[in-house]
Order: sequence, then C-alpha cells, then structure tokens
Amino acid sequence: MPKSLISFTQLALRSRFTVATTVVVLLLANSSCSRTNPKDLPEWTPGDHANVDKPAQGQVDTSKARPGMSKLEQQGVNDVILATWKQNCVPCHGVIGRGDGPQAKVFHPPDLTNPQWQKNAIDSEIRFTLKKGKGRMPAFAHLPEQTVTGLIKLVRMLGRQQKTVEPKSAATPENLPSPAPKKP
Ligand code: HEC
Repeated sequence: MPKSLISFTQLALRSRFTVATTVVVLLLANSSCSRTNPKDLPEWTPGDHANVDKPAQGQVDTSKARPGMSKLEQQGVNDVILATWKQNCVPCHGVIGRGDGPQAKVFHPPDLTNPQWQKNAIDSEIRFTLKKGKGRMPAFAHLPEQTVTGLIKLVRMLGRQQKTVEPKSAATPENLPSPAPKKP
C-alpha cells in the first residue's frame, strides 16, 4: 500500500465539502510527495547541447524508480494520471471511486472499490470500457494509451485501499454483520 495513496485517500475523505476542495487537496497531497529532489537531477553541461547521438544520455530515466519519486509515480500513476482522473472520472465515480461523484445520481456508476467488482474485473475490459464507453459511461477514446494504462492502475489501487485503509466503510448489505438474534 503506497503511503502517498493513503494520505491521498485520508485527505480526500476529510475534505468532503466540495469536489473543488478535494481536487485541490489531492493535487497538493500528490505534488508535495512527488517532487524530485533537485540533487538527483544531473546538471546541464554545454556538452549536452551538442549531444545529438544519445540525447537521453545523462538524463533522468523516468521509467525507473529513483530517490524522491513518489510510490504512486513508481507504479505508473503520475500527476497526469491523477489530473485526468480528477477531471474526467471523479464527477461520476467520486474521488476515490466509490461511485459517489456529483453526477452519480444521474449515471449510477459502480463502486470501483468493491472487492467483488475488483476481483471480477479484467484490465483489458476496463481498457475497452475506457476506449469505447459502456452503458451510461462515455467513451474516452481521445486518451493516450499511456494515460489509459495509468488510469487502470489507479482504478486497481482504489480497490486495494478499501481493505487496508477503511475496513469499516467497506460495509455493504452483503457483508454487514447480521443483527443480534432476538431474545425470546
Ligand atoms: C458520465 C459519468 C461517467 C464518467 C465521466 C466516467 N464514468 Fe466510468 N462508469 C460510469 C457508469 C455509469 C459505469 C457503469 C457502466 C455499465 O456497466 O453499464 C461506469 C463504469 C466504469 C468502470 C467499470 C467498467 C467495467 O468494465 O465494468 C470503470 C473501470 C470506469 N467506469 C472507469 C472510469 C474512468 C477511469 C473514468 C475517467 C476517464 C470514467 N469511468 C468516467 C460512468 C462514468
């Protein structure tokens, strides 16, 4: 469980007032921990200017984990993915995917944190849904492949957080403890 996602969730839960507040909080929560330590960045040298053969030489390799990189980023969920989620998905799915966004009453999105849904869902189908739409969910055909992949990872994290962060709120009619037996 990435620590940053826990704080991402907790912050989101604490500031339920408006989506705007939550979005701001999330942005802050995320950017504060994903900031790269300036010391890790190689210094530009005049030699880089003429380096046309291997332009990436000496540059930061963003595909690999590096110090100062947030856990979310290491797993392929960077600021672009978070911003895309907030802008395109949160209105229906809610900040953490519970299906409680401001437009949820109209569209009735599923609770993506539901362990049962997570278990049955297949990444390739989620990809298909994102590209083509499904039922009342619009298609997001314009999103680049990388973004779609990142969104799928994010959706998967939504499922994991529920078990570890808030076991109590995972209560659904199916898993609520049965009422105490009536005394005769
Ligand atoms: C206009 C509301 C709306 C928006 C915006 C929206 N969704 Fe959905 N989403 C839905 C609804 C409704 C469903 C249920 C579709 C169905 O099963 O008929 C759904 C289903 C899903 C599913 C489950 C798909 C499956 O195969 O069962 C995933 C994952 C998902 N959405 C992710 C996203 C992501 C990621 C975004 C942002 C890029 C997004 N949604 C934007 C309404 C929305």
